[in-house]
Amino acid sequence: MQQFSFLSTLAFISLATMVSAEPSTARFITVLNDCPFTVWPAFFTASGPQPEQVPGWEAKPRTGLTFATATNWSGRIWGRRVCDFSTGSTNPDTCLSGGCNGGLICNTTTGTGVPPATLATIDFSGTSKDIYTVSVVDGYNLPMAFVNNGGCSFASCPVDLATSCPVDLAGPFDRDGQPVGCKSACLRDALAGNAGNSSNCCTGSFGSQEACPTSSVEHYSYFKQSCPNSFAYAFDESSGTAVFQCPKAVKFDEDVEYTVTFCPDPFNL
Ligand SMILES: *[C@@H]1O[C@H](CO)[C@@H](O)[C@H](O)[C@H]1NC(C)=O
Ligand SMILES: *[C@@H]1O[C@H](CO)[C@@H](O)[C@H](O)[C@H]1NC(C)=O
Ligand SMILES: *[C@@H]1O[C@H](CO)[C@@H](O)[C@H](O)[C@H]1NC(C)=O
Repeated sequence: MQQFSFLSTLAFISLATMVSAEPSTARFITVLNDCPFTVWPAFFTASGPQPEQVPGWEAKPRTGLTFATATNWSGRIWGRRVCDFSTGSTNPDTCLSGGCNGGLICNTTTGTGVPPATLATIDFSGTSKDIYTVSVVDGYNLPMAFVNNGGCSFASCPVDLATSCPVDLAGPFDRDGQPVGCKSACLRDALAGNAGNSSNCCTGSFGSQEACPTSSVEHYSYFKQSCPNSFAYAFDESSGTAVFQCPKAVKFDEDVEYTVTFCPDPFNL
């Protein structure tokens, strides 16, 4: 009986869909943890309404979840490594990399995450296109792929950049001395108090593409050659393989869906 009414509801919905062609009311993002260790995914809403999904959860190895966002949402998604929320602390140091203000559930106003962290960024708010990246601008902490079912390019940094990280950018490290991140040269400058006038951050005297060529960004080629489809410095759009676009749906239910995978199989991309 229940099954029957469920089926008739479905039939009703799809009929309504076909005749009305209403604009979609949600977008969907799946977050998969394919790492052999637990990751604590997080997201931060840059614009648009907060999703119903709380922005922070535990993902055991080989698990995932899908959450809905508003059609005009924009924000970032990342993973946190080696977390311990048992003290009840709401400081970012609850995780060895990627931690946020708020603890397990990142604060929706201040919980942007502490770099270095590999970030998936997505902007659904444009009228004709979604815009997305996998960014290592502020460093790296997990291999990531950001793919879609729309036939649009895959953004990614699917390889391990932590173990072979340049010495001056290495870390943070876990208790056994294993790296759980790799800073960018910009982040290193920022941590040293020089975010405002840095050739690595393309700020101050270096604040234009002309004044900030890739050759002036230390270790750019380490990141970009290892992860050609990532966003690896402030003006990396010029590489043509940093910022990707996917046409928006115009009808109900035709929107492209996205999947963020931590530790993806690089040979499957
Ligand atoms: C996004 O759409 C919602 C309705 O779903 C609206 O209330 C909100 O103002 C919009 N936000 C932005 C930033 O456009
Ligand atoms: C988030 O951070 C703001 C600013 O520090 C604070 O006022 C607010 O209470 C926090 N939200 C939660 C849910 O803790
Ligand atoms: C930034 O630093 C450079 C040297 O690296 C210096 O020549 C320049 O004057 C500085 N610019 C500003 C705006 O402080």
